Amino acid sequence: MNYKSCGFINHGMEFRPDKEITVCSQVSHIGGGNIVLLKDFNPKAFDIETLIKKKKEIADCVKNGAIYPNCIGCTDLKDWNELRELSKIKLLMIQHWTKCNSNCIYCYTAKNKKYYNSLKPYEISPILKKMLEYNVLDKDGIANFSGGEFTCLKEANKIIDILSKLNYFIIVNSSGVVYSKKLAERLTKGNSCVVISVDAGSEATHKLVKQVKTYKRVWTNIQKYIKKQSKDDLVNVKYIIIPGYNDSEEEIDIFIENCINAGVKSIVLGIDANYFEPNRENISDHIFKLFHSTREKVEKLNIKFTIANRALTMLTIGKYADPFWEKYRYDDGVYADRYFNNL
Ligand SMILES: C[S@@+](CC[C@H](N)C(=O)[O-])C[C@H]1O[C@@H](n2cnc3c(N)ncnc32)[C@H](O)[C@@H]1O
Ligand code: SF4
Repeated sequence: MNYKSCGFINHGMEFRPDKEITVCSQVSHIGGGNIVLLKDFNPKAFDIETLIKKKKEIADCVKNGAIYPNCIGCTDLKDWNELRELSKIKLLMIQHWTKCNSNCIYCYTAKNKKYYNSLKPYEISPILKKMLEYNVLDKDGIANFSGGEFTCLKEANKIIDILSKLNYFIIVNSSGVVYSKKLAERLTKGNSCVVISVDAGSEATHKLVKQVKTYKRVWTNIQKYIKKQSKDDLVNVKYIIIPGYNDSEEEIDIFIENCINAGVKSIVLGIDANYFEPNRENISDHIFKLFHSTREKVEKLNIKFTIANRALTMLTIGKYADPFWEKYRYDDGVYADRYFNNL
């Protein structure tokens, strides 16, 4: 029997804002992802049994050889000849809050930053403790902080301490506006990586895209993190192409120059979901050319080049699918090993 599954189906759980828990954070493919496990739950009386029941229902669908409808067209879906039914949870996406010190034009929160910055998140450290009590949280997993901004989350260090005891590799997506000593220490230990989305070459474009004046501060912090990393690809600098704002070769050239000067060893290229999703059948040649030319330039410099998840969907699935890009999937080594090889 051939099963179509992924690490998140088997072991994943995503904390979202508004008291919602889903399986994963993939949303840009045709099936739309977004499989809800729990909605409007009470964080103080966390209902683990209902969550497990829903995970089992998804696993049962996969067990029958079917693709779970929300997973159609997802780059994470793989063929497996053995399905590990819900074992324990060990892939945690942590993005249950919205507060941020940047204001990126492509972010859904940009429409009403004041409102999103004022939202009070639910606490997840008590939930993690309860999961441990129920023996559903596995050790040696991966946790990914991906939104709002990690350095604005009050319980970030508390969560890290719980997961550190369980030997988690922790991926942090950060604006880079504030330097985290805790994260820097983990970069030295080699048990975390950070992804900082700079999205611009020049200071003027950075201000246009991020809508804050933090260009110099972000580059200083990137350099500080690089000094602390114990492996070349723990500090990753990202550029999301936003057509009409930063999609010129010149802008990307300045970005690459800045990366060289800062000692960056890993560059991640992405595409704005707000452009990709409504245009998935109508992507301009110019965008593909930018992906190719940037890849060529970065590779020549001996800097690791990878593609962020939405861009990977654009380049490997559907009308423009080109298997050439598959090997450029963003990962940090640990992610690939723990996620793709250990399904
Ligand atoms: C939502 S952000 C939050 C984490 C952190 N505050 C940051 O600035 O990276 C997490 C990641 O999602 C990416 N992202 C957000 N909105 C996006 C969009 N419309 N299209 C593509 N990537 C996006 C960001 O570049 C970032 O790497
Ligand atoms: S296949 Fe994709 S959409 Fe489905 S659970 Fe896995 S990551 Fe999420």
